[in-house]
Amino acid sequence: MKFEHPATFNPIDQLKVVGHPTSRIEGPLKTTGTAPYAYERHDVVANQAYGHVIGSAIGKGRIASMDLRAAKAAPGVLAIVTADNAGKLDKGERNAAPLLGGPEIAHYHQAVAVVVAETFEQARAASQLVRIDYEKEDGKFDLAAGRDKSSVPDPKIGGPADTAIGSFASAFAASPVQLDATYTTPDESHAMMEPHASIAAWDGDKLTIWTSNQMIAWGVTDLAKTLGMPKENVRLISPYIGGGFGGKLFLRADILMAALGARAAKRPVKVALQRPLMFNNTTHRPATIQRIRLGANRDGTIAAIGHESWSGNVEGGEPDMAVSQSRLLYAGANRMTATRFAGLDLPEGNAMRAPGEASGMMALEIAVDELAEKLGMDPVALRIKNDTQVDPEHPERPFSQRQFIECLQTGAERFGWSQRKPQPGQVRDGRWLIGMGMAAAFRNNLLTKSAARVRLDRDGIVTVETDMTDIGTGSYTIIAQTAAEMMGVPLEKVAVHLGDSDFPVSCGSGGQFGGNNSTAGVYAACVKLREAIAQKLGFNSDEAVFADGLVSSGNRSVPLAQAAGNDGLMAEDGIEYGDLAKTHQQSTFGAHFVEVGVDADTAEIRVRRMLAVCAAGRILNPKAARSQVIGAMTMGVGAALMEELVVDTRQGFFVNHDLAGYEVPVHADIPHQDMIFLDETDPMSSPMKAKGVAELGICGVAAAVANAVYNATGVRVREYPITLDKLLARMPEVG
Ligand code: MOS
Repeated sequence: MKFEHPATFNPIDQLKVVGHPTSRIEGPLKTTGTAPYAYERHDVVANQAYGHVIGSAIGKGRIASMDLRAAKAAPGVLAIVTADNAGKLDKGERNAAPLLGGPEIAHYHQAVAVVVAETFEQARAASQLVRIDYEKEDGKFDLAAGRDKSSVPDPKIGGPADTAIGSFASAFAASPVQLDATYTTPDESHAMMEPHASIAAWDGDKLTIWTSNQMIAWGVTDLAKTLGMPKENVRLISPYIGGGFGGKLFLRADILMAALGARAAKRPVKVALQRPLMFNNTTHRPATIQRIRLGANRDGTIAAIGHESWSGNVEGGEPDMAVSQSRLLYAGANRMTATRFAGLDLPEGNAMRAPGEASGMMALEIAVDELAEKLGMDPVALRIKNDTQVDPEHPERPFSQRQFIECLQTGAERFGWSQRKPQPGQVRDGRWLIGMGMAAAFRNNLLTKSAARVRLDRDGIVTVETDMTDIGTGSYTIIAQTAAEMMGVPLEKVAVHLGDSDFPVSCGSGGQFGGNNSTAGVYAACVKLREAIAQKLGFNSDEAVFADGLVSSGNRSVPLAQAAGNDGLMAEDGIEYGDLAKTHQQSTFGAHFVEVGVDADTAEIRVRRMLAVCAAGRILNPKAARSQVIGAMTMGVGAALMEELVVDTRQGFFVNHDLAGYEVPVHADIPHQDMIFLDETDPMSSPMKAKGVAELGICGVAAAVANAVYNATGVRVREYPITLDKLLARMPEVG
């Protein structure tokens, strides 16, 4: 189905099921420990052996020799796969570095072998007997050093490397109020609860993998390409996922090593990446250096916006598009962005929750706070003054909907922003210096096609099948709500099956596009099923009403179960958008408000309360959406205060590669959170009139924390994370 816009009234607008705060339909399975995650699928195939992955001990160079003799002779060992005996391997389109290294090593902890044994303990013990001699080479491991030699990339997603509108340089030079500052964000890790894990089983030349993956169709294509086999022979099954955040968007070593291990051992093999391997073996959010220049008139009108960003990656990898939001968030006649790329020999960087905007907003939204101070203006008022209802680069192109000002105003009022003292260091609570900060939230809303299959059977049960995934976000539930609304049945009459490449190809879970697009695909399939039912009953499909388990037309009503007949009815369709994303800018908006306390003596920072206001189209399930936003706010606090993969710039690896060294917020770090959704429906986003929220929630949070720390102490920290050592020497003298 091609989406005809703007969407008019449709069955979703009844809001009998959609739009209600509904608990997760798969929740009981998860809370009772009976939802099977990839590594726990002991029953799907018999005779499973265990694979243990060995990661490279060097960051750059090559393997000189490998001695497998002792490991092969160890108890229980069935096979050892290395680049020497793996056969010819290609590389997935979305993988920059090969997943199996050797003899050349692309990065530290790149997989170089998988040891397969009868038990996990035997596989692990034998791994320690593998002797590898490396020839180490000097590598490029330091973004700051690589910045001067950076190149102009050709980004595949997220826009061009350079943009320019008007005359930035002269407008900036002529601006009476100028800000020119450089900010840095560190490498970050997804650190999801469930490690990457897969069970692989071969049946002749057919391969089935039970795994934990956000994008089933990408995984199938990239695995088939890597192994040089037809993709029809690859099946991926991933119904439950213990978190992804972008780390499971792509084919990773667990899938490939399980497949190779199973082929070598001639048995099904399961592989979970060891936690200490994950931080360097899988992808991460790349560090950035960002220079922002803002030029404004004395009344606060921004005349010039310049944003340059440097990030690193393995050659062939993508840059972080930290400049994305600076092209769209604020008005300003003269603007430029530049994205630069430094080739590094660190592990591969890639998407992590709100790739681009998450890092970009960390910098831009401190810069706007700094500009407000120079102007002597309230930061909320400055943002309102520079709102735009059109794409600032292309004024003929409107936002499909933009309630940014409403978010700012609602947030300011609900948070008590008027109580804030503009002068830093004015508020004290015992030993704590108290400050308030705020920032905008902004993240694009992506339109991607998505398909589903819907079946009505003779018991009146509606079954939805799509390769969409649920990474802890609530996909199962919003898809069930959509089908229930469309077919006029209660939620309990809907069964949802996800995450199987045998099902129609969906948008998958990524880029906060899953909620709107996957449900729109289910909507399309349901429209088709309604037509099939109406036709079978001899009803005019435009007049048929689906409600209360009945389909009615004129004075005739038939129970759905009866309409299905003995064989049931099935329909398959998907949603497509044509060039809608070109004619209308699709984005989501919000505002974050944060209060912090900073210990006057130790500079310990504690978040005291947080509020987010979001405008993101129709909220399909306010309970699930709220969970997404408060989770994202929590992750934003991590980015502000804790998260950093520390780079060893001599050896070339992330030093803190476990959950003891890589710190993320815990409950005690987040005392009080609140969030508000503005009442909004966007008829240009899809028949669902919804958008994404899962990534909007993280964008801007870290800057709001940073601005609150500044307001508390008068110390401006421009290098994330804001740890107390960066404050301590500069703390104000207080009595
Ligand atoms: Mo998201 S970083 O596209 O899973």
